[in-house]
Amino acid sequence: MNDSSVVERTVVVTGATSGLGRAAAAQLVREPGVTVVVAARDAARGERAAAELTRAAAARASGRAIPLPLDLASLDSVRAFPAALDGARLPPLHALVANAGIQYTDRRHTTADGFEATFATNHLGHFLLIRLLLDRLAVDGRVVLVSSRTHKPQRLRNGGFPPPRWADARTLATPGEGSGQVAYSTSKLANAMTALELTRRIETLRPGAHIAVHALDPGLMPVTGLARDYPPLAQRLYLRAAPLLSALIPGATTAERSGAQLARMTLDPSFAAPPQGPRNGRYVELTRDGEPSAQARDPRLAAELWRDSEALVGLA
Ligand SMILES: NC(=O)c1ccc[n+]([C@@H]2O[C@H](COP(=O)([O-])OP(=O)(O)OC[C@H]3O[C@@H](n4cnc5c(N)ncnc54)[C@H](OP(=O)(O)O)[C@@H]3O)[C@@H](O)[C@H]2O)c1
Repeated sequence: MNDSSVVERTVVVTGATSGLGRAAAAQLVREPGVTVVVAARDAARGERAAAELTRAAAARASGRAIPLPLDLASLDSVRAFPAALDGARLPPLHALVANAGIQYTDRRHTTADGFEATFATNHLGHFLLIRLLLDRLAVDGRVVLVSSRTHKPQRLRNGGFPPPRWADARTLATPGEGSGQVAYSTSKLANAMTALELTRRIETLRPGAHIAVHALDPGLMPVTGLARDYPPLAQRLYLRAAPLLSALIPGATTAERSGAQLARMTLDPSFAAPPQGPRNGRYVELTRDGEPSAQARDPRLAAELWRDSEALVGLA
């Protein structure tokens, strides 16, 4: 039976094969009329996740998930994504959830484009994807970026995680010496900056479309795949320490809980942009409105990041 009150819409989720993105996608497909695009770098993992998500949704006669190829570490792959999305002939695009992320222990990993892999995947790939999909977003659409508390200079509160070391985007995109964890926290600062800068620019980029832009700090979720690129010993130590970290660090949580929040920020009317919603450019910590760091809020730094990122991804 066709329910004419159901709004058919599409949500693209990066990183929906695992952890937070997978948990958010599981919530999103429960909504009637929602098609979740599992934008995945590995075809088999993407297909498996989409099939499992659809099966779970079918039990509730609600949404569905389909896989599409996307490797955020390759600008060519990101450039090919919009055409693949158009070719899939899905309902109108309601939202892009920029969630995928990686974390190495060093900065020597290089993408096919020659960039440092963490900055390239977590920031540059998403920056280009957002820019390419912005025109396709329906009126009242949304962009939700996943950042992290590690973007704030609060090593103690972050359980010893090293704070970001900001530099211009060209420097950050250059592989070399140094800590992969610093590259990670710095990339998460770039995510928070991008969310705020996109909020500043959204009315110019999509006049009158009321596109909502928000960022989420999902909290520490020790039991996801984020440590998969650690060397084996470091990975074993991390997984051992994970339960302790969960107990000791304020704000530690689960992918399911933070995934539910990410899904709310994607669909719930309370996160619509004005005039329908309360306010644009929200930064949510777990489930509460918070404030990004002073560096993330600096409009000059964010404008520089925007300009330099455009040049690096070939938009300028
Ligand atoms: N875990 C935490 O405590 C924590 C805390 C704060 C913020 N976060 C943020 O939460 C987000 C999700 O992380 P998670 O903890 O859920 O980690 P996760 O379980 O490792 O999930 C990461 C996802 O990103 C995908 N991905 C990685 N590289 C990609 C690429 N080049 N192209 C496309 N997709 C790619 C992975 O796909 P594959 O299946 O192919 O690997 C996977 O689906 C990240 O942005 C992370 O920074 C996590």
